[in-house]
Amino acid sequence: MSADADKSADVDQRAASLAHEPEEPLPPHLEETPGLGVVVIGAGDMGLRHAEHWQAVGARVLAVVDPDLERAGAVAARFGAAASATPERALADPEVAVVSVCTPTHLHARLVVAALDAGKHVLCEKPAALTLRDALAMRDAAERTGKALRIGFMRRFDPAFETLMAYTERAGRPLLAQATITAGVRPKRLMHDALANGGPIIDMCCHVFDLWERMFGGEPNAVSARGYTFSDDKPELAGISQRALDSALIMLEYGGGSVGQIQVSWGLPSGIEPVERHTYVGPAGLVTVDWNRHVTLRDASGVTRWRSQGVDPWRAEIAQFRRELLEGAPREVPDIADGIAALRVSLAVLEAIASRRVTVPAEVADMEEVMEEVEA
Ligand SMILES: NC(=O)c1ccc[n+]([C@@H]2O[C@H](COP(=O)([O-])OP(=O)(O)OC[C@H]3O[C@@H](n4cnc5c(N)ncnc54)[C@H](O)[C@@H]3O)[C@@H](O)[C@H]2O)c1
Repeated sequence: MSADADKSADVDQRAASLAHEPEEPLPPHLEETPGLGVVVIGAGDMGLRHAEHWQAVGARVLAVVDPDLERAGAVAARFGAAASATPERALADPEVAVVSVCTPTHLHARLVVAALDAGKHVLCEKPAALTLRDALAMRDAAERTGKALRIGFMRRFDPAFETLMAYTERAGRPLLAQATITAGVRPKRLMHDALANGGPIIDMCCHVFDLWERMFGGEPNAVSARGYTFSDDKPELAGISQRALDSALIMLEYGGGSVGQIQVSWGLPSGIEPVERHTYVGPAGLVTVDWNRHVTLRDASGVTRWRSQGVDPWRAEIAQFRRELLEGAPREVPDIADGIAALRVSLAVLEAIASRRVTVPAEVADMEEVMEEVEA
């Protein structure tokens, strides 16, 4: 029997055994999720990835939703699922326990709230939302319905992250952290649209903000930044009404004296290979990271190297969420509070750029106000 079939059999066996143990009181989420039917909303790159991983961990992909019906149909056909342009019918299906939201970011809140209100658990791709108002509405809906709402900061399931955390512990504190993240203009125009995916300060840096929040034990207490649009003259992006900043230098101050600096750009010429490198300098060592390839620690004991074995962090994240839902495993998949925390840092960066002042994530305004300032 294949590993996938094995997992599928696990789920079926567990559902069957649960059905024969009425005297064992079950937590409500177990009663509601036997077999774990899944709907994927958004049939792009992430939607396909989620569907593949849900199926691989033994869930049943029941429907794929995308207004581009051809896309929805192509993905649905791979999983024997139904395709539809709108989510209503899929959300009304009592067989559906979980919804993966994989649409452009500005649509997350509406779809997440609809899914929660329909009584489904939700895994929403990162970043949670573009605005605090949306993110807080998502949080309120999760609280109101008692359903799980998780945000796909899948890097927490990347062995490179685990290794980085261990090596930076050995490097000591305070840490001077530096991340360089560069790429050519993104082929998906919505990534550069301030009103859709929000540009790299929201879309890409949220991974680093989430990671550093874990590493430094809390959000930054001071943020300064300068932002640029290097892609102004790039014809690929002509016609986007509100172009997001595509490049920035960001400085974050954390408790305990650690500091982080991010140099980010999606404004290089199209086709330039994306690069992500981090360097961490501490009193006891130096850690360098070529993201998802190598992590290296240099300290008094010599050089310690870690090399990626190609583990897929999305698979690990989805497998863990399934365990949390079906087996009551402790929560490890980040939730909406983590999504809000990372969004606050993104908004603090945008506000620091707009105002040329130092900002504080805990006091940050919503993006609409920040954008008004950017435009003023
Ligand atoms: N975890 C990561 O590292 C990672 C990587 C890439 C993207 N993402 C996030 O995943 C999300 C999707 O990104 P993507 O790269 O898959 O984008 P994509 O453009 O490949 O796919 C998005 C899909 O959503 C569909 N869509 C648009 N409006 C919809 C609606 N109302 N209902 C249903 N579907 C709709 C589009 O037609 C498209 O097929 C974004 O929030 C992005 O930030 C996360």
